[in-house]
Amino acid sequence: MTTETNTQTAAKKPKILVARAIFPEALAKLEESFEVRSNQEDRIFSPEELQKELAGVVGALVAGSERIDASALAQAKDLKIVANISVGYNNFDVSAMTAAGVLATNTPDVLTDTTADFGFALLMATARRMTESEHWVRAGHWDKWSIVNNPLGMDLHHSTIGIIGMGRIGQGIAQRALGFGMQVIYHNRSRLLEADEKACGASYVSKEALLRTADHVVLVLPYTPESHHTIGAQEIALMKPSATLINLARGGIVDDLALAQALKEKKIFAAGLDVFEGEPEVNPELLKLSNVVLTPHIASATEKTRRAMVDLAIDNLCKALEGKRPPSLINAEVLKA
Ligand code: DGY
Repeated sequence: MTTETNTQTAAKKPKILVARAIFPEALAKLEESFEVRSNQEDRIFSPEELQKELAGVVGALVAGSERIDASALAQAKDLKIVANISVGYNNFDVSAMTAAGVLATNTPDVLTDTTADFGFALLMATARRMTESEHWVRAGHWDKWSIVNNPLGMDLHHSTIGIIGMGRIGQGIAQRALGFGMQVIYHNRSRLLEADEKACGASYVSKEALLRTADHVVLVLPYTPESHHTIGAQEIALMKPSATLINLARGGIVDDLALAQALKEKKIFAAGLDVFEGEPEVNPELLKLSNVVLTPHIASATEKTRRAMVDLAIDNLCKALEGKRPPSLINAEVLKA
């Protein structure tokens, strides 16, 4: 092969966009086959910048920070696929992508156990006041230790966990709860098959019954216009004053301001939040409270899982650009058109 041919081959590499920083080895692998517009400095693009970055590329790897809608796609005439490095895809306007003939993919399964582990960790940290206790130690309050004056928490074992959103991650949390001898109730758009309910020992109840009965309410449902503010002041009012609320799903599923007010007035015991309305901003009212555990959307954040998510997103992108069906395709209608 001549240098000239090599140069020609290099010049013919299709262009792709990698909109957020990824692992260097993954980027190097992509550079073997593509001319890559990368963003290893990890600056979040404005909508105008994203529109420009998508112009002239055939594929893009993005995360929840990139909103892919008609406006983002306006100049993306060559675009065939946008691969999300995330299982949730509320950053996609799937109808607009389908109308533009752009395949949409996500990263299911590879993060289920890691996210369920984290859900349980956040629940334990919240119910047992772990972050508050750590601050107490760091602030030198240990000399005030007493039987009745420690940060006293709520038990998980033999309590009732209510899971709203019983997909793969919800079921993973239910299975972990069984190990703690918890009673598992759930609410979901559709009821699970009997065999799946049995596998995670879960009983289906209405949302209202769940909120009234559960000692710990865990949210793992997808964000859609219908699930916006699934938990607001009215729903919190149904919960036990001793209950905890965990949001592992998406910002916007909880009305954060109503929650802050309820926590301030001790209408529920505590909350654990990994996702926020308008993140990375956090409602300042939440920041003032000690009975809330705050984490920065890290439920899937182990190195092994984040690598698996990036690898799956790359596989989706490569398959689509080879004219094959990507493994986790969201809008199969595009292939039929
Ligand atoms: C997901 O994959 O949806 C997680 O929330 C990480 O973004």
